[in-house]
Amino acid sequence: MKGFTLWFTGLPCSGKSTLARRVQEILLERGMNVELLDGDEVRQNLCKGLGYSKEDRDTNIRRIGYVCKLLSRNGAVAVAAAISPYREIREENRRAIAAYVEVYVKAPIEVLAKRDVKGMYKKALAGEITNFTGVSDPYEEPERPEILIESDKETVEDSTAKIIRTLEVMGLIPGAPAESEYSPEEEEKIKTRLKDLGYI
Ligand SMILES: Nc1ncnc2c1ncn2[C@@H]1O[C@H](COP(=O)(O)OP(=O)(O)OP(=O)(O)O)[C@@H](O)[C@H]1O
Ligand SMILES: [Mg+2]
Repeated sequence: MKGFTLWFTGLPCSGKSTLARRVQEILLERGMNVELLDGDEVRQNLCKGLGYSKEDRDTNIRRIGYVCKLLSRNGAVAVAAAISPYREIREENRRAIAAYVEVYVKAPIEVLAKRDVKGMYKKALAGEITNFTGVSDPYEEPERPEILIESDKETVEDSTAKIIRTLEVMGLIPGAPAESEYSPEEEEKIKTRLKDLGYI
């Protein structure tokens, strides 16, 4: 199989890490080589010392993109899960990586502030931390993501299935061993999206 990069972008708590881990598990079960680059972990090593200014955020995303490029050009699946708030840098990575699939994990800020997995929204809304994406720092929405996940309307399993099915239809991963259990309506939605983007 050819390698590719699956890039999750979205506001804090939208579900990037959750979905990236689930997709990784499924691809590993199918015998593929998969590496996950999660924003939180990467900031402890590859991007240690970088902060949350625009410049540092851009450097963070460029570095993750660079590693994804190296991995995916060598036949691995690189899965990135990072807020990646700026469109220009995401597009730069897209241009540098031969097979790049963007997943926009979307949900309204009110829902995300309620989830508040790490307690950061509370702090940001109270003004205790600055430069928090979605509250006091910008997030530029993707205009044409290959995959759109509305995580306030879908379960984790629904969203995971949509991602896997899209990768199958794009020919990036082999089909499931068993018959796809995807509903015909959802299947049609995935195909329409990929047709609009010119993939099929
Ligand atoms: N359809 C869905 N997809 C993903 N997560 C979902 C979905 N529905 C509900 N959730 C929940 O939303 C939360 C998302 O948390 P997660 O840590 O994955 O977010 P994140 O985007 O990685 O945030 P951060 O940018 O802070 O790392 C989890 O508690 C998850 O169970
Ligand atoms: Mg995360």
